[in-house]
Amino acid sequence: MSLTDSPDLHNLSSQSDLQLNSSGRLRHLLSLRGLGREQLTDLLDLAETFISPSGSPPVRSNAMADMTVANLFFEPSTRTRASFELAAKRLGADVLDLDINTSSQVKGEELLDTIYTLQAMQVDVFVIRDAVAGTQAMVAQHVDTHVSVLNAGEANCSHPTQGLLDLLTIRRHKKTFGDLIVAIVGDIAHSRVAQSAADGLATMGVGELRYVAPPALAPVPGTMPAAKLYQDLDSGIRDADVVMALRVQNERIKDLAGVPARDEYFAAFGLTNERMQLAAPGAIVMHPGPVNRGVEIDSTLADGPSSVITEQVANGVAVRMAVLTTVAKTLTHDD
Ligand code: CP
Repeated sequence: MSLTDSPDLHNLSSQSDLQLNSSGRLRHLLSLRGLGREQLTDLLDLAETFISPSGSPPVRSNAMADMTVANLFFEPSTRTRASFELAAKRLGADVLDLDINTSSQVKGEELLDTIYTLQAMQVDVFVIRDAVAGTQAMVAQHVDTHVSVLNAGEANCSHPTQGLLDLLTIRRHKKTFGDLIVAIVGDIAHSRVAQSAADGLATMGVGELRYVAPPALAPVPGTMPAAKLYQDLDSGIRDADVVMALRVQNERIKDLAGVPARDEYFAAFGLTNERMQLAAPGAIVMHPGPVNRGVEIDSTLADGPSSVITEQVANGVAVRMAVLTTVAKTLTHDD
C-alpha cells in the first residue's frame, strides 16, 4: 500500500478507538483526543515518578527489560527522538534508532514492509514521526497484537507526547488547570504541538484557552478545541498564566500569502520581556523547540527566569518513560 494514495489516512489519525485494547488499557498512543482526564492524569502522575533533580542520576527501571523499541523518524527531530531513545534505555529496553537515509526506504521499500521486517526481529514498540497524516494509525492497524505504535509527531495533526510534556510542565508550575488562562501564540494552523496541547488542556478543563495568530496562521475552524481567537498579541497574552510560543512551520506552509516576513512577524507576534509584563504575575513562557530566536521569542526571554523551555525538555524524557511503561504493561498483561 502506498501511503500517499489513500484518501482515508487523515481520518485514520482521529481513530481514537485504536488506542485502547479491549480492557481499556493504552496500547497505542496516536492522539490525546479520545483519552479522558483520568487517563491523562495517570500518565502525568507516572511521569512525575521519573523526574529527578538536575545533577542527580536519572531514574531507571526495568519495566521494558527484554523489550525492543524502534525509532522511525521520517522527519527531522532532536528532542523527541533523543528523549524516546533515552527513555527506552532507562527502562531497560533495547533501542533501534533506524537511520532512514541509509535504510532500504531509499531503495523504495514500502513503510509496512519496513515495519514487518523489524517486527520479525522482535520489535515491540514502534515510535514513528511522519509528515503524512494517518501514518501512525495505519501502522497500528497492521502490526501484530503484541506490538505497540507511538506517535512522535504526525503532519500538523498530532504530537501527543509533546502535549503530555506540556501538560506536565504546566501542572508542576501551576498545580491545577481550572483557573488558568493559557495563550498559544503563533503558527497554530500548521502546528501539531498546538493541536495536542489544546486537546490536552481542553480535556484537563483549562479555565480559558486563547489562540493568538495572524489570520494566515490561525487555526482552521472546527479542527481544534474551542478557544478565544486574537490577532493582537498584547490583547491575547494579557493576564495569561501560561504563554506558549510556536515556531512558524515553514516546511508545512504551502501558500505564503498573508504570512508575515521574519522581522514583521517578530514585531507583531514575537514574545519579549516587555510584552510579558502584560501577562499575569508569575506567568510562565513555553516553547516546544526548536526555537528561532528573534523570530517567535526574544533570547533574553527564552533564557530568562520565566522561561520553562529546558524544563519542558527534561519533562519530555519523563513523559516518554511513562508512556513506554504504560504500553509495556499493556503488551505483557494477560487478557
Ligand atoms: N518539540 C519537538 O518535537 O522537537 P523536535 O522536533 O526536536 O523533536
